[in-house]
Amino acid sequence: MKINTPLNTKYAELIDLPKIEDERGNLTFLEENNHIPFEIKRTYWIYDVPGGQTRGGHAYKELHEVFIALSGSFDIKLFDGKNYKTFSLNRSYYGLYVPNKIWRSIENFSTNSLCLILASDIYKEDDYIRDLQQYKLDYGFKK
Ligand code: TYD
Repeated sequence: MKINTPLNTKYAELIDLPKIEDERGNLTFLEENNHIPFEIKRTYWIYDVPGGQTRGGHAYKELHEVFIALSGSFDIKLFDGKNYKTFSLNRSYYGLYVPNKIWRSIENFSTNSLCLILASDIYKEDDYIRDLQQYKLDYGFKK
């Protein structure tokens, strides 16, 4: 199931990455503007997350991201101002594309999980919306 952005033009969705199976081990790769629907300007990763901790808890005005569970598992809970949708990532050949203007939190990290994030821009604190009420006011669907 896809989750609409308030503008209804882009969707959060799973990207099936190439998986080259080999008796020596599997290999997965990605290319910007091909498997990833934007130019990759930054990558960062989240690791050593203590049990029970939650990351995220914000939206971005402009940033697009792709999340990959390189190791272990975690849940990405999305909110578009009206609907919630949770994606459980536990395979390193899936990416979760999350467009801008989507509220997200990342929860239920397994021990030793490694979350890789590809981002469409460099880090800009003023692109964050960290207040849920403000997010709903700015981008939430009007009932
Ligand atoms: P934040 O994006 O709030 O973390 P989360 O992964 O939980 O959403 O970032 C946490 C801190 O790290 C914050 O002080 C900003 C800093 N930061 C950078 O300096 N550069 C980056 O690329 C990122 C993602 C965060």
